[in-house]
Amino acid sequence: MSDRLIIFDTTLRDGEQSPGASMNLPEKLEIAHALKELGVDIIEAGFPIASPGDFEAVQAIARQVEGPTICGLARCNAADIDRAWEAVRDAAKPRIHVFLATSAIHREFKLKMAKEEIVRRAVEGVKRAKDYCEDVEFSPEDAARTELDFLAEVVEKVVEAGATTVNIPDTVGYAVPEQYAAAIRHLRSTVRGIDKIVLSVHCHNDLGLAVANSLAALKEGARQVECTINGLGERAGNCALEEVVMAVKTRGDYFGLETTINTRRLHPTSRLVSRITGIQVQRNKAIVGRNAFAHEAGIHQDGILKERTTYEIMRPEDVGFTSTELVLGKHSGRHALRERVQALGFHLNDEQLQRVFEGFKALADRKKEIYDADIEALAEAEINSGPALWTLESFHTSAGTGTIPAAAVCLKHNDGRKLQEAACGDGPIDAVFQTIERITGIDVELRDYRVRSVSTGEDAQGEAQVEVRYQGKTLHGRGVSTDIIEASALAFLQVINRIALRQQNGVGSDADTKMATVPT
Ligand code: KIV
Ligand code: ZN
Repeated sequence: MSDRLIIFDTTLRDGEQSPGASMNLPEKLEIAHALKELGVDIIEAGFPIASPGDFEAVQAIARQVEGPTICGLARCNAADIDRAWEAVRDAAKPRIHVFLATSAIHREFKLKMAKEEIVRRAVEGVKRAKDYCEDVEFSPEDAARTELDFLAEVVEKVVEAGATTVNIPDTVGYAVPEQYAAAIRHLRSTVRGIDKIVLSVHCHNDLGLAVANSLAALKEGARQVECTINGLGERAGNCALEEVVMAVKTRGDYFGLETTINTRRLHPTSRLVSRITGIQVQRNKAIVGRNAFAHEAGIHQDGILKERTTYEIMRPEDVGFTSTELVLGKHSGRHALRERVQALGFHLNDEQLQRVFEGFKALADRKKEIYDADIEALAEAEINSGPALWTLESFHTSAGTGTIPAAAVCLKHNDGRKLQEAACGDGPIDAVFQTIERITGIDVELRDYRVRSVSTGEDAQGEAQVEVRYQGKTLHGRGVSTDIIEASALAFLQVINRIALRQQNGVGSDADTKMATVPT
């Protein structure tokens, strides 16, 4: 049995199903490039039938990201499969992933189909995908709650029909390690032809067991693991890529498996995904959390100083935590900046790099020392910038004890108009937000607001993040500046711009947003 573990990343598909994590095309492309640098084998780039935006993103990734297999998801019907093929066909290594639920609950209540019908449709779906593409994956959705004998029957039939990978999803995160491992063992010992295909695992984290369940299945011979950066995904998320990869690597003695992951890219990729989605990584998160390698107890610190391995089972640098962060100064040139931007894992074209360079020079005038985090903030702002209807021209705020906080803001519309307004608020930032709403005529519900320092020092840049609800959707915005009120205004304006563009394009034709939930 092969000791090679295939890493199937679904951050851009299952991860994007995380509430509020929807991404636009440039953001998805940036993440896809980062996943390639990380060394994943397969990128599930999206669900092409779900929206024009999903289709475009999968197609762009298939055309532009070379190296990994590019996969598109499809339900077991002709329209989905045809659309998935259209999206991935230009990839050097395309894959179509078809799925159909098999559990009794899904058969009875969702699909209203008998077992025979499920088998027939699964086989038809795989055959249709196979007519297009050699590499076909099949997933019996909710496999972990499916009767084992029926699961084995479905798996055998789709293998016969030409599936090259069969994935066993624990769609609702219900499984526990021994039981899930037993299901994999049962399939490997009963299904005819199972040795010819790759058995895959896909675990959700509702009981906090996604990584444990995946690892238990690998021990029983599964050789593909489906996972997401930071464990992003529906509800409590999916199996976290960084955790499963580092478990396999750190406990090579136990698992005996190899991956092609460049583990030094784990932390930068985690930060990229967190910044783009606006979903923060908890501090004590294994592998990539800010405290993952922080030792507080005196006994531990003493032990570490005497011999690192007393309290550390992995080296922070092996997962990409860097200690040398001070990189560039006022006199650094374009070349040095380009190298640094590339080393941080960004893929900017010449025009984008030029704008980042201009931002860098402006920042260097205001700030003595420029850190990696500052460069990342500039590069990410460039990626996030997208088309904007409104830009911030100027603002003024007044606040203080015993006064009413107020703001005056001037915004420029891309048709050339400059509009200004003033408003009062609970504080200066609230006043700025209210003024922006007044000018643009877009009222949102602010759900979350956070400010943090991007780097260190008194002149550090502040990063503001806002989460708003608008017409039932959650949107995130992010802004960076040495002035936190400006950072907040930029973050707020970013979400306002996303909404304004959607309105301009007419709701329903927005390529960034899945306008309808696709029933599965
Ligand atoms: O969780 C699940 O069942 C899925 C399938 C589409 C593979 O995401
Ligand atoms: Zn899933």
